[in-house]
Amino acid sequence: MTEYTYILTEREQRVGIVILNRPKELNALNFQLVSELANALEEMDRDEAIGCIVLTGAGDKAFAAGADIKEMADKTPIEMMGAGFEAWQRIRKIHTPMIAAVNGYALGGGCELALHCDMIVASENARFGQPEIQLGIIPGAGGTQRLARVLGKYRTMEMVLTGATLPAQELAQLGLINRVVPVGEHLVEAVKLAQKVAKQAPLAARLAKEAVLAAFETSLEGGLDVERKNFFLLFSSQDMREGMQAFIEKRPAEFQGK
Ligand code: CAA
Repeated sequence: MTEYTYILTEREQRVGIVILNRPKELNALNFQLVSELANALEEMDRDEAIGCIVLTGAGDKAFAAGADIKEMADKTPIEMMGAGFEAWQRIRKIHTPMIAAVNGYALGGGCELALHCDMIVASENARFGQPEIQLGIIPGAGGTQRLARVLGKYRTMEMVLTGATLPAQELAQLGLINRVVPVGEHLVEAVKLAQKVAKQAPLAARLAKEAVLAAFETSLEGGLDVERKNFFLLFSSQDMREGMQAFIEKRPAEFQGK
């Protein structure tokens, strides 16, 4: 795997792990980090041996405390547009299911990065928020849209208009977080969950992710179309034959990703 400056990559069986690695700066997302992250995720997305990706932050204080404020402080709008913000679009388009393992702060772009993932495992001390308003800006990597789709208008307005952070437990009750685990166990638990995804038929997992995400991006009619087409498409895969044959023969399926 490629060597990066601001991230680390690891593998545990069929799970790829990406670690944001600027712990002294609370893993603040500078432009190079986000670009490296998009590269690493795309590399894992192309790797047939990886069936699920876990994203986490180094150190014990933060998943990520947001975009790098020091780097952005003197930027113009044009510079921001050209500074690699499109890397977020590349992260959005990863087909492999992704799980965020969040410890400590997930703020601003850090919260938005967790929201790009398909599931979120958080430790008891995790706090999520969009404090951009306190800097005179607003979220720029999808926070207003993705939070509103999960939490609804009123709670999202409070977070975005006051910059207040919310604890993991509260967000779990509101449906934003899959599991809240004891401090220090976020990565182990996220990898366990990822192993469960990674052992499924890979094509089915990717098309399932695409179909669920369609619920956030299209009308009901459009989303149902995506689901139906993906459902029919999977009847052309060898893994579908294997999965059903294995059921009939009462044995575990051996999926090949074909
Ligand atoms: N950008 C750059 N540096 C950051 C940073 C950020 N987002 N967050 C923390 N750091 C740096 C601090 O400057 C500090 O560096 P120095 O030691 O060199 O001073 C180091 O990380 C440790 O941080 P603190 O001393 O502040 O730690 P703390 O425990 O006292 O506070 C915190 C933690 C509450 C998270 C605080 O660091 C904080 O408020 N950070 C900024 C959070 C924020 O506003 N995020 C939104 C950014 S904008 C954005 O993300 C836009 C977008 O939508 C893409």
